[in-house]
Amino acid sequence: MAEIHTLELGTMHNYVHLIIDRSSLSVAVVDPAWEVDKISTFCTAEGLKISAILLTHGHHDHINGVERLQQESGATVYLSRLEADHFGLNDKGWNSFEAPFQLQLGESEIVGVATPGHTPGGSCYHVDGNLITGDTLFVFGCGRCDLEGGDPRAMYHSLHRLLGEFAPETRVFPGHSYSTQATSTLAEERAGNPFLHCKSEAEFVEYRMLRHDQERSAPYGPVPRS
Ligand SMILES: [Fe+2]
Repeated sequence: MAEIHTLELGTMHNYVHLIIDRSSLSVAVVDPAWEVDKISTFCTAEGLKISAILLTHGHHDHINGVERLQQESGATVYLSRLEADHFGLNDKGWNSFEAPFQLQLGESEIVGVATPGHTPGGSCYHVDGNLITGDTLFVFGCGRCDLEGGDPRAMYHSLHRLLGEFAPETRVFPGHSYSTQATSTLAEERAGNPFLHCKSEAEFVEYRMLRHDQERSAPYGPVPRS
């Protein structure tokens, strides 16, 4: 069973998640950024080799450590083709995929699913009951949709896709520390995430684009269903 080790790095409350397969002593690092030396130091101390780098999306605060970590480790970098195209990342020698994406890490299978909304080619990664959600799903929140390439309608469908595709006990590992707790489950999100309480796409778009930021501020806690 893969385990997840999380580092909170940088000035923007980013979470960098390490998917660790102890059977093969191999690691896939999701969204390496900021203090890359802390990622390397942890892996060296644990006797782990970084074999893959997975990107949830192309924003700078999630990818500013990719090239350094790739050079240090020799790991293969993966991101969705849509995202590589959108952010002009095709000349970096990174591997782009059409979701759904599958990668074997020792005994564990990592699956990447398309979750557009925050960006056009955003991806979430599932492994052994854990879901790494980038800036798609936060604990009791979700990513902005008003940045370049964002689409709140796509985000509505991406969030509901995650709820439909994965079991309620699936553990959620978001891309930022914006909440009163570091992780949650999809069941906790369904119950307490106000974005998942919207009853229609139109209600979601209005809440995400207008009302949410007026009504709530971080750190975000659970909101009971009304
Ligand atoms: Fe982002």
